[in-house]
Amino acid sequence: MKTRILSLIKDQYPGYISGEEISRILGISRTAVWKHIRKLRENGYQIESHSRVGYRLVQAPDKLYRDELTGLLDTAIIGSDIVYRETVGSTNDLAKELAQKGAADGTVIIAEEQTAGKGRMGRRWFSPAGKGLWFSVILKPEISPTDAPKLTLVTAVAVALALRGIGIPAGIKWPNDILIHGRKLAGILTEMNAEFDRVHYLIVGIGINVSLGTGILPSELSDIVTSLEEHMEGRYSRIQILASLLNNLDSLYRNFSQGQFSQILTQWKEMSVTLNRKVRIHAIGNVDEGIAFDIDEEGALLLMKEDGTLKRVLSGEVSLRS
Ligand code: BTN
Repeated sequence: MKTRILSLIKDQYPGYISGEEISRILGISRTAVWKHIRKLRENGYQIESHSRVGYRLVQAPDKLYRDELTGLLDTAIIGSDIVYRETVGSTNDLAKELAQKGAADGTVIIAEEQTAGKGRMGRRWFSPAGKGLWFSVILKPEISPTDAPKLTLVTAVAVALALRGIGIPAGIKWPNDILIHGRKLAGILTEMNAEFDRVHYLIVGIGINVSLGTGILPSELSDIVTSLEEHMEGRYSRIQILASLLNNLDSLYRNFSQGQFSQILTQWKEMSVTLNRKVRIHAIGNVDEGIAFDIDEEGALLLMKEDGTLKRVLSGEVSLRS
């Protein structure tokens, strides 16, 4: 009901709609209308009311509410269900729980804050309330586990395109970091549940730093991490960026499912900051150096080592050398 009242008020914007009209359209009492308006105000909606003309929306809150997001999505699979939490340990962990209980392909789990956000390599992902986009998507593609890394690349393309769409010169560092001028803006953590030859589900967790300004970011991170506000001076809307990213992901995911990975890989390569660069790759128990000269059809990085030998790298942490 709250959602329907909000949409009636929004439909009249910038005009007013009277309480009487709302109660007539929805078949509820004026007191019920008033109670729902009070609830909306508690949720951060600034709603003006004037005795003769009624209600008018002045400002929506900077929140990633499911109903707000739904209105911005133009998707077939991604966002088939949307779960919103003010605070959660990790959206990836909640996504896993929901996937175990049978959540649908494309379910999106969003939190304003994560108290135990997870990065790759067992690192912590700093995710304070309202300062970024912290969310996970449950994917259930019909693929074998060996193809799963491709979906990290697909996601990286969706993120980079959404950022480029708002004028941010985002580059992709293999496999899944989104950088601006060498500093990390966003990361992707893909987790998988699979049998030997069949993926049950993938959880693709995405973290985008939006406003981790001075005093918020731990000092040891400030040289290597950046956030959108540094590059956009407040001209961003978290929910618009999230919607555009999910819209991109939806169309890329459908293309991927129809066997069109090679086009996506081409886009990935165009936005790469890793290819043709001297890199050092840290993998478990091993470090390699060389030139990152290509990505193959499986999403593996092809490294030309300093001794002239080739190495195919499936996972690891890349640092760019000068
Ligand atoms: C990385 O180390 O680069 C990956 C970071 C991924 C962070 C996101 S935030 C939403 C989702 N939930 C988590 O706990 N982690 C991912």
